[in-house]
Amino acid sequence: MAPRAPPLRHLLHLLLLLLVPALAEVPDRYASRRAGAGASAGLSNALAQEYLDPTYPVPRPPPAAPTCVLPVLSYSFANTYGAPPAKASYAPPAGCPSPWSLVVLAFSVAIAGDQYDRVAAVWLDGAELLRTTTAEPTPDGVRWTVRRDVTRYSALLQSPPGGVLSVMLENLVNDQYTGVYNVSVSFEFYGAPAYLSAAGSSSAGAADPKPASPTLPESYFQPADLILPVSEATGESNGFWFRIQNSSDSRSKLVTIPSSTYRAVLEVFVSPHSNDEFWYSNPPDLYIRENNLTTGRGNAAYREVVVSVDRHFAGSFVPFPVIYTGGINPLFWQPVAALGAFDLPTYDVELTPFLGLLVDGEAHEIALSVVDGIAEWLVDANLHLWLDPSSSNVSAALGPYETPRLSITRRYYSRRLDGRFTIRAKRKSKLSGWVKSSFGNFTTEVEAELEASSLVEFTEQGRNKTVRLQAEQDTEVVVRSSATRKVVGKVETEAKYPLWLEMVTEDPAVDGTYVTRANLTHSLSVETDAEAEGLFEREAKLADEQAAAGWMLVSGNEVLNGSVATTQAYRYSDDAWRFDRAIDTRDGAVLSDNVTESYTALRDGLEPDARLRTLAAGGAADGGAMEL
Ligand SMILES: *[C@@H]1O[C@H](CO)[C@@H](O)[C@H](O)[C@H]1NC(C)=O
Ligand SMILES: *[C@@H]1O[C@H](CO)[C@@H](O)[C@H](O)[C@H]1NC(C)=O
Ligand SMILES: *[C@@H]1O[C@H](CO)[C@@H](O)[C@H](O)[C@H]1NC(C)=O
Ligand SMILES: *[C@@H]1O[C@H](CO)[C@@H](O)[C@H](O)[C@H]1NC(C)=O
Ligand SMILES: *[C@@H]1O[C@H](CO)[C@@H](O)[C@H](O)[C@H]1NC(C)=O
Ligand SMILES: *[C@@H]1O[C@H](CO)[C@@H](O)[C@H](O)[C@H]1NC(C)=O
Ligand SMILES: *[C@@H]1O[C@H](CO)[C@@H](O)[C@H](O)[C@H]1NC(C)=O
Ligand SMILES: *[C@@H]1O[C@H](CO)[C@@H](O)[C@H](O)[C@H]1NC(C)=O
Ligand SMILES: *[C@@H]1O[C@H](CO)[C@@H](O)[C@H](O)[C@H]1NC(C)=O
Repeated sequence: MAPRAPPLRHLLHLLLLLLVPALAEVPDRYASRRAGAGASAGLSNALAQEYLDPTYPVPRPPPAAPTCVLPVLSYSFANTYGAPPAKASYAPPAGCPSPWSLVVLAFSVAIAGDQYDRVAAVWLDGAELLRTTTAEPTPDGVRWTVRRDVTRYSALLQSPPGGVLSVMLENLVNDQYTGVYNVSVSFEFYGAPAYLSAAGSSSAGAADPKPASPTLPESYFQPADLILPVSEATGESNGFWFRIQNSSDSRSKLVTIPSSTYRAVLEVFVSPHSNDEFWYSNPPDLYIRENNLTTGRGNAAYREVVVSVDRHFAGSFVPFPVIYTGGINPLFWQPVAALGAFDLPTYDVELTPFLGLLVDGEAHEIALSVVDGIAEWLVDANLHLWLDPSSSNVSAALGPYETPRLSITRRYYSRRLDGRFTIRAKRKSKLSGWVKSSFGNFTTEVEAELEASSLVEFTEQGRNKTVRLQAEQDTEVVVRSSATRKVVGKVETEAKYPLWLEMVTEDPAVDGTYVTRANLTHSLSVETDAEAEGLFEREAKLADEQAAAGWMLVSGNEVLNGSVATTQAYRYSDDAWRFDRAIDTRDGAVLSDNVTESYTALRDGLEPDARLRTLAAGGAADGGAMEL
């Protein structure tokens, strides 16, 4: 996953591997030439295999909602390295006017041949709608579709300032890497069914238009009124992402926001590449120098993305370590993508406390940087703004401000190629600010606590490598009435993402090929608790886990042979829904794919009764291409 790496680099890797056991370079990024599961399972017709991202299916549209499917772009990404993004014009569908109950972006890909994984993004007028990475093809071909809920960008989809959709996917095609990515992008719009529009959009408000005590404006739970991109101005030629090169490389955009803004959230998109693709397994530079290694993958294994507003720290997060499909062992990700690889997680930073700095009608700087980052990070953001419908002016002020400190402890031990490197990092922040709009005077308090610990260990003269990362981030956003201090709304989020990797690399054979064995478990767990005083309380839990183990025979960056097993358990539940999916794969084939789904009626007569559906597919023929 090195969008800027010229092909020469791959050649260099090969040469170096023959000269030194550059084990600090493992895990690496590989291209897999192995035939697809269709061939190995003896299926006679060489049909493209469907690849999967076994996650929660995009929420169902309400029954009887009007539906419009809008194809926007279709493009074959062949030699697109260094080329401007592919473009198409976009306008909302006449047949399905907003407001929409649901909008889905569908990003479909088909490819055959041999190719590396690539990073791609979709932007509408410079605001990012999807960050994705591609699967690696097989000679028989693979295809997949990423479906992302993009309802939160309704304001932009409804009235885009320029109506230009851009897709960037830098690919290289030559005699060896023949795969051309055929991409098509479309949107599905679902309107609100008549019975919902007639009954009012929610149970709140309608019954009690003038509540006695202050409540959060209903729009708090609806998509923003305006979305401003915080992205590269020269995006039309180089892609709208900022390309961050080092820890002092802070990239920013000046934005002017309407003076009627009463709430602001910055949504950050991020993906690490080149020397930082496997940042969570990088040793410190000291180890690389002492052993005369040539790898650029250093600077140890802690990274944190920081958002600032006019040079004030405004929020930060440790990015979820997404493994692209060529990473660690590409056979692990056939046909199930690693967590987040097809739809990279985005990170919301509540900026409402900073409205006091922002609502003066002047331009202000929103900046993004990566603590300890090395080349290169593709980062950009969308600023979601909610506007006061009945006043052109809010007044606001930032509360007492102190820059939250990052405390970081590093313990490094090394002896030749053996070494043990641990890092513990912690950052606590507490920010607040008040905003007086036509809804009232509310104070927003944002309390965040981030804790991470990282271990990278080499044993057996560097042949064995262990990587452990544990990142945990708790955030609490509390909105109070400024006058009474009474809590009117609260959102608590707890996110955890442990990763554990053990790798053993055997000594190369005389022909330079070598065997790598790896065991990997990683997971993403997010719990959210939202409360609006007098309106509702909602809880949602996600636990998504993958375990993969196996070996591969490698020559340079090519996988020649191997055998692997990958399992994934995805569990999501909230007050009304529950969705479990367990998938079991071996050597490219789906052995079982079990889905359990249940939901309870929210409102009498509107939803079907609670029901339970279990699908169990046995064998690749049935389960391989199951779509939900
Ligand atoms: C990609 O598109 C080209 C041009 O339409 C077509 O020839 C090729 O077969 C497509 N590849 C795949 C894998 O569908
Ligand atoms: C960091 O990257 C920026 C942008 O490429 C560059 O101008 C600067 O010199 C770099 N700083 C260091 C310390 O390498
Ligand atoms: C690294 O290179 C230096 C200079 O060539 C040499 O003295 C040293 O022994 C080498 N270290 C290792 C660990 O190979
Ligand atoms: C808006 O704010 C400006 C100063 O910030 C003030 O002079 C003006 O009177 C305000 N307008 C309204 C309609 O409140
Ligand atoms: C290295 O890995 C091998 C294979 O998993 C294992 O048997 C051995 O105990 C490991 N050595 C160390 C020091 O962890
Ligand atoms: C809003 O509330 C804060 C905190 O109580 C107060 O300092 C501020 O003056 C209030 N703003 C307005 C415009 O009333
Ligand atoms: C992977 O796990 C299996 C079973 O727990 C174990 O036998 C094997 O040694 C492990 N391999 C590595 C490379 O740690
Ligand atoms: C791959 O490895 C397996 C197990 O060692 C072996 O049986 C098979 O022949 C190998 N396949 C190729 C193409 O080398
Ligand atoms: C799916 O269900 C079958 C039958 O109950 C069971 O044998 C299999 O282990 C399950 N698979 C997973 C991945 O949980």
